[in-house]
Amino acid sequence: MALFLFLAAIVLAAASPAVGQLPAGFLSIDCGLEANYSGYKDTDTGIVYVSDDPYVDTGKNHRISADSTYQRFYQTIRSFPTGERNCYALPTVYGDKYIVRVMISRNSQMISLLWPTLPQFALHLGANYWDTVQDDSTEVYEALFMAWASWAPVCLVNTDQGTPYASAIELRPLGNELYPAVMANQSMRMSIRCRMGQTDSSITRFPDDQHDRYWWTTPTNPMWANLSTTSDIQEESSLFGVPSAILQKAVTVVGNGTMLNVTWEDRLFIEFMVFLHFADFQDSKIRQFNVYFNNDSPLLYTPLYLAADYVYSVVWYSSTNGKFNITLVATAKSLLPPMLNAYEIYTLIAHSTPTTFSKDFDVIMAIKFEYGIKKNWMGDPCSPSQFAWDGVICRNTSDNIPRIISLDLSNSNLHGVISNNFTLLTALENLNLTGNQLDGTIPDSLCKLNAGSFIFSYNSDQDVCNKTSPSSSRSRATILAISIAAPVMVVAILGTSYMIWRVKRKSNFFAYNPPRVLEHTNASRNEKYHWDHLQENENRQFTYEDLEKITDNFQLIIGEGGSGRVYHGRLEDNTEVAVKMLSGTSSSGLNGFLAEVQSLTKVHHKNLVSLVGYCSEKAHLALVYEYMSRGNLFDHLRGKSGVGENLNWAMRVRVLLDAAQGLDYLHKGCNKSIIHRDVKTSNILLGQNLRAKIADFGLSKTYISDSQSHMSATVAGSMGYIDPEYYHTGWITENSDVYSFGVVLLEVVTGELPILQGHGHIIQRVKQKVDSGDISSIADQRLGSDYDVSSMWKVVEIALLCTEPVAARRPSMAAVVAQLKDSLTLEEAREERGLKENPTDEVAMLPTSGPSAR
Ligand SMILES: *[C@@H]1O[C@H](CO)[C@@H](O)[C@H](O)[C@H]1NC(C)=O
Ligand SMILES: *[C@@H]1O[C@H](CO)[C@@H](O)[C@H](O)[C@H]1NC(C)=O
Ligand SMILES: *[C@@H]1O[C@H](CO)[C@@H](O)[C@H](O)[C@H]1NC(C)=O
Ligand SMILES: *[C@@H]1O[C@H](CO)[C@@H](O)[C@H](O)[C@H]1NC(C)=O
Ligand SMILES: *[C@@H]1O[C@H](CO)[C@@H](O)[C@H](O)[C@H]1NC(C)=O
Ligand SMILES: *[C@@H]1O[C@H](CO)[C@@H](O)[C@H](O)[C@H]1NC(C)=O
Ligand SMILES: *[C@@H]1O[C@H](CO)[C@@H](O)[C@H](O)[C@H]1NC(C)=O
Ligand SMILES: *[C@@H]1O[C@H](CO)[C@@H](O)[C@H](O)[C@H]1NC(C)=O
Ligand SMILES: *[C@@H]1O[C@H](CO)[C@@H](O)[C@H](O)[C@H]1NC(C)=O
Ligand SMILES: *[C@@H]1O[C@H](CO)[C@@H](O)[C@H](O)[C@H]1NC(C)=O
Repeated sequence: MALFLFLAAIVLAAASPAVGQLPAGFLSIDCGLEANYSGYKDTDTGIVYVSDDPYVDTGKNHRISADSTYQRFYQTIRSFPTGERNCYALPTVYGDKYIVRVMISRNSQMISLLWPTLPQFALHLGANYWDTVQDDSTEVYEALFMAWASWAPVCLVNTDQGTPYASAIELRPLGNELYPAVMANQSMRMSIRCRMGQTDSSITRFPDDQHDRYWWTTPTNPMWANLSTTSDIQEESSLFGVPSAILQKAVTVVGNGTMLNVTWEDRLFIEFMVFLHFADFQDSKIRQFNVYFNNDSPLLYTPLYLAADYVYSVVWYSSTNGKFNITLVATAKSLLPPMLNAYEIYTLIAHSTPTTFSKDFDVIMAIKFEYGIKKNWMGDPCSPSQFAWDGVICRNTSDNIPRIISLDLSNSNLHGVISNNFTLLTALENLNLTGNQLDGTIPDSLCKLNAGSFIFSYNSDQDVCNKTSPSSSRSRATILAISIAAPVMVVAILGTSYMIWRVKRKSNFFAYNPPRVLEHTNASRNEKYHWDHLQENENRQFTYEDLEKITDNFQLIIGEGGSGRVYHGRLEDNTEVAVKMLSGTSSSGLNGFLAEVQSLTKVHHKNLVSLVGYCSEKAHLALVYEYMSRGNLFDHLRGKSGVGENLNWAMRVRVLLDAAQGLDYLHKGCNKSIIHRDVKTSNILLGQNLRAKIADFGLSKTYISDSQSHMSATVAGSMGYIDPEYYHTGWITENSDVYSFGVVLLEVVTGELPILQGHGHIIQRVKQKVDSGDISSIADQRLGSDYDVSSMWKVVEIALLCTEPVAARRPSMAAVVAQLKDSLTLEEAREERGLKENPTDEVAMLPTSGPSAR
């Protein structure tokens, strides 16, 4: 039932844009509005407000006023007389940025009747402290954050100073480019957001501001004079998206004064960021001033004529006495006094409390809705520990990410079948479902959780999983190894240097060449797939005896990977194949294995290694692949290919282009998007003609490309190639492959390993050299100077975009393909010029023999 109501509300919220042309994703909740009320439209803004019932399990409704001069959502409240922490769960899209606002009526007679002493309490965003609702009459609390899961909990925490309550909650999507300081590891609390100059209303919001930020009007100041224009203000960049209507007004200093200052005081919050917005309305006289923040060194600045511009801090400022000021002082050269159009001041919401592994959070929320569980299940499931959910026990990983390891849902009145969702809690060691009315089969993979050491109590008090065969301890060991090693790399990647002040025009967000908007191309999709003769064998099933024959009794080992050995073989018609014997049982069980093989045999592309067939007989699981005679790219780059020849630059770009096309096809070309999960140079194989194909996507899991259903088993992938965001959250998307491919690109450019002991990660190493602008310091020394400089830069440029720490900023594989094509064109043009000048110079001598790995 809860699920139904919940869905109904989502539909309602989603449908509202059609009603009033609201931007997608606005969610406006009127706390305390009766659940049977279908919502209403605010007359000023056209925004639809809905009841809070689907978003919260606890609390009590009160009507506090019927005064129609008051904003409608202030007429009702929901209070939380019981429980230390009560939370709303707001639906979010992982990785997107949002504004969240809580409105709390403070000046109502009813409130003082309900509570003679105005309640004081704390607000938490997820597991982290956000703000304190205090005596003063502040009614609007706002924060900017990046969603870390499919739900963002907004919690009201009782601090023994009265009953927490709320009037309304608003959630607004913020473009992902806006406010770069909002990151996965830090949110911002809005402290002041003001517009300057003459205005009609005390607050400017939607529809003037498409993101529905609230801009308060500044109190008048006798030292200030109002300026305004009716001309449009050009928006050059969308870093803040300040509306033209706001930038058309400003203040300056009266009587040609030279100093304009803004001061404020705060003792509760000590770390501030400041954002100043400017646009000048005249271009006849010079206006130039120094911008000071407290005692910091000044920044010399001139506003742009009729164009949006800004100055902002990129570090958090603190002051020992709690006093802050922004001072604009005209220079001697300036003929006009300083001016200011708008400003924003934020404080840091530090993510000091670790947040539950995103995927575990999403899964347990799904379980909550699936069974309609109404326990004290609110906020973050694991943190802070005094608020951990009933029956949920968590343990921190070595990286301090809490994971759910035990779930006690005994006697919880659960009905229906045993949900598959339980199997998605991959760290679970203990599940107790006794004393419920559940039936149906036990999901296949449930008992395999945690490498088989999982304890499951159901109906009887016994562990129903205590019959599983002893499981391999290797999978555990691998995960552990990654957990220990990866943080080092992640820290290295995240350590980006920042300047004190940044002016948009003077420095770009990126230290290297400005990123271009990459042309989107469909070329790779339209290409005809090469269906060679191997395809006739599609889905062929081999017996173990067949394999013995094909491999001549497993004579020649051509590779040894994490999942087993690879042997060389020949089919009856002499076609060479690679036979991969899988050791241990597949984590998804035999049925899962077969289902996966069935789907993989249907995936064909000239840049993907074809699966010829498989064997699943007795204890033998094997995959039979097309044979790639020239081994893998890793060995080629290390000079270990047995062919003793370096790949020249054109060959390298062709190999990268092939691999990129293969990945693009996996992501977008199949019915279901396939995420590779383990992109690395040793999974890029080369054929006789040195054309490359992507291998080992057999380990990928197909997944339904629906935004809600990202799947993750455990963090898979290889050291040095793992997407830091995936590592931290367990959320896997195509973007994680893009990250790994970025590492591959850098490896091919430099010829170096991703991680060099003592020299850090390849991304850090390359970034350090990029600033020098000298490509030869980056390029593989073995290439000499035999490459087109622009061609090489193109590859470095796209590689750095691919390895952006924030997944949402990475390009698609289609964009990578387009950039690599451009790079190849440049290099081929250089080669042609070279040939004309020096016709005897053979460009690409292909070695012709030498068996190698795989
Ligand atoms: C909603 O339910 C309440 C009783 O819980 C009832 O008094 C009220 O009339 C109902 N409102 C609507 C719009 O149906
Ligand atoms: C400037 O605008 C403010 C806000 O609308 C107004 O109160 C004030 O009187 C104006 N100041 C002058 C000098 O006109
Ligand atoms: C301000 O300075 C400008 C140029 O120096 C001058 O034209 C103008 O009269 C001055 N205004 C006032 C109010 O002093
Ligand atoms: C700077 O701000 C302070 C406090 O608002 C005020 O007292 C002072 O007069 C201002 N100075 C100037 C030059 O505007
Ligand atoms: C600004 O703040 C700094 C440090 O608190 C202080 O020294 C300075 O006098 C202030 N300036 C103004 C104009 O208030
Ligand atoms: C996880 O680590 C945090 C911070 O170090 C700590 O407060 C919390 O108690 C730990 N949780 C568990 C379950 O160990
Ligand atoms: C998980 O729960 C949701 C209901 O919230 C359900 O729609 C979905 O099918 C479940 N997933 C699995 C794998 O059982
Ligand atoms: C499961 O829960 C029941 C009821 O609370 C309890 O008696 C039993 O000991 C639990 N089983 C395990 C293995 O913890
Ligand atoms: C399985 O059950 C047997 C008998 O109940 C017990 O001795 C054994 O320790 C159990 N094994 C595990 C792994 O729990
Ligand atoms: C968040 O990460 C960025 C680097 O990505 C770092 O500069 C910043 O200091 C971090 N914020 C906090 C609060 O740790």
